[in-house]
Amino acid sequence: SAAEKGGYDYFMLKEIAEQPKAVADTLLGRIDPSGSLTLDEVRISPSELREIDKVVIVACGTAFHAGLIAKYAIEHWTRIPCEVELASEFRYRDPILDGRSLVIAISQSGETMDTLMALRHAREQGSKVLAICNTNGSTIPRESDAVLYTHAGPEVAVASTKAFLTQLVACYLVALYLGQVRGTKWGDEIQAVIKDLSRISVEVERVLETMEPVRELARTLAAKDTVLFLGRHVGYPVALEGALKLKELAYMHAEGFAAGELKHGPIALIEDDVPVVVVVPSPRGRSVLHDKIVSNIQEIRARGARTIVIAEEGDETVVPYADHLIRIPATPTLLQPLVATVPLQVFACELATARGNEVDQPRNLAKSVTVE
Ligand code: G6P
Repeated sequence: SAAEKGGYDYFMLKEIAEQPKAVADTLLGRIDPSGSLTLDEVRISPSELREIDKVVIVACGTAFHAGLIAKYAIEHWTRIPCEVELASEFRYRDPILDGRSLVIAISQSGETMDTLMALRHAREQGSKVLAICNTNGSTIPRESDAVLYTHAGPEVAVASTKAFLTQLVACYLVALYLGQVRGTKWGDEIQAVIKDLSRISVEVERVLETMEPVRELARTLAAKDTVLFLGRHVGYPVALEGALKLKELAYMHAEGFAAGELKHGPIALIEDDVPVVVVVPSPRGRSVLHDKIVSNIQEIRARGARTIVIAEEGDETVVPYADHLIRIPATPTLLQPLVATVPLQVFACELATARGNEVDQPRNLAKSVTVE
């Protein structure tokens, strides 16, 4: 009913709007007043966490994209090697696991059969399993050694939005906590990022307040067949997620690429007026990557692409090459997906509406897939 949707036309719109609260709720009680993380609820002891020599993340769909982003954070802040694998592929390749592997299963519903089978396989090999889950008491957390709940609240729309942002928050918390417990040379950075994370919901809110031009742009693209997405570093999984949303909702051909791979194939897809969304990393931080992405934008634009550039406020170098410019607030490099994903959700939702599609119940899809 309209009341359940809180005045929004679709659950998806309501859930997109709820993201600042979902993010804040997922942080609540997990950062102590001194600015350290307290994850006692994760019942894997600090001494056990110090023994971990490998992290493996398993998930499906949007949760898999959260896992891809987590890998950058975990490896950077903890120096523990981290693999991310589609849950449906995981156990069939005979993965190398033992008692020192930490397997993280990410699932909004906690009922996805592929993810459940992957974690069962991991436990059979003696690995510890930590679930990141949004649904209290669901099967995946019940069968895991420990759980870190995301507090997105119920997500009704099939295409995941607020659950994804909270999965990212949970992944950052795990990465920062592992870094804190194990003590790495990134101690100061970890402290600073915890502080930025504690304020990030305000930035998500600011993004939401500036989405009207994104909606307008989406409407003008309703008749297109293809939209491409480019990103690099944590912007690459953001590109994949942007493309997935468009497939799910707009039923368009949409593909995400690592921008560095452009020259190895995808650039052949660039033709006149094909929309390409580019997620630009911060010009601070890993600025080498920033400059490389700016060259990519120039290259595709020279070949006729219509460039839709998502870039940090104050990044002026992209301006001459952006046919459409979407601004996001400055964040630490690794946290950028929390703000960069939001315009892509709005974009996909609006395109779906413009194409007359059912936003909350896309054809052929289920909210939770409980078969293998
Ligand atoms: C289904 C949904 C996706 C979701 C995926 C994983 O395919 O349509 O939106 O990302 O399952 O779901 P989970 O509940 O495990 O996060």
